[in-house]
Amino acid sequence: MHIDILTLFPEMFQGPFDSSIIKRAIERKLVSISLHNIRDYTHDKHHTVDDYAYGGGAGMILKPEPIFEAVESIKSAYNNQDSSQLPVILLTPQGRLFCQEIADELSKCSHLIFICGHYEGVDERVREHLVTDEISIGDYVLSGGELAAMVVVDAVVRLLPGVLGSETSAIDESHASGLLEYPQYTRPAVYRGWSVPQVLLSGDHAQIAKWRREQAIQRTLERRPELLDKADLCLEERQLVNRLKKS
Ligand code: 6GU
Repeated sequence: MHIDILTLFPEMFQGPFDSSIIKRAIERKLVSISLHNIRDYTHDKHHTVDDYAYGGGAGMILKPEPIFEAVESIKSAYNNQDSSQLPVILLTPQGRLFCQEIADELSKCSHLIFICGHYEGVDERVREHLVTDEISIGDYVLSGGELAAMVVVDAVVRLLPGVLGSETSAIDESHASGLLEYPQYTRPAVYRGWSVPQVLLSGDHAQIAKWRREQAIQRTLERRPELLDKADLCLEERQLVNRLKKS
């Protein structure tokens, strides 16, 4: 996968992309990420990227020209492929709400372009004629799309084949099955008098799997009941949910 990110603040990405899973994925050539400063695609002496809103109002609006030129220059560098299929994603609080399903969908693409918007806004012609998708990471306001782009890139890159080792699988975890994760413990078996649940020490793998599944269902019901509607549950598990709801 190749990812291009257009931003006014490329330096913000250094920490997150130079650590942990993303760093390892880049080193192993499972993903490459290019940061592009939108300011580099301006032509005037002052490298102007924003301007006042027509009609008035507070806040500056990102100008269309540098954004169009940046995306077009990226696309032409990949002209061997059909660019009509290429996702050009604007990070904006007005976008569709990001979730694991969207991460899965994006992880199947070979190339993604992200544009980090700013809350004051991006010229509407960018949305209408350049962008193919708009994503928000939640109902709160960030100063810009950069942190959101990092969140989306992290969630996507960890799904790419070979990125997670066999010891950490993306299949088991919270949200993969539509359920929250079950409680986890490591040594010591007793800490400050608090014991690890006996079943986990029993060596009975069938019982352990059953306990974990029940815990995941119970936890989801307590904390995020709305997730259960879409979760992948068998008939017996649906019955368990109904019993728990009544108790
Ligand atoms: Cl994608 N951008 C901004 N500026 N704020 C947000 C967001 C994006 N998602 C949630 N809040």
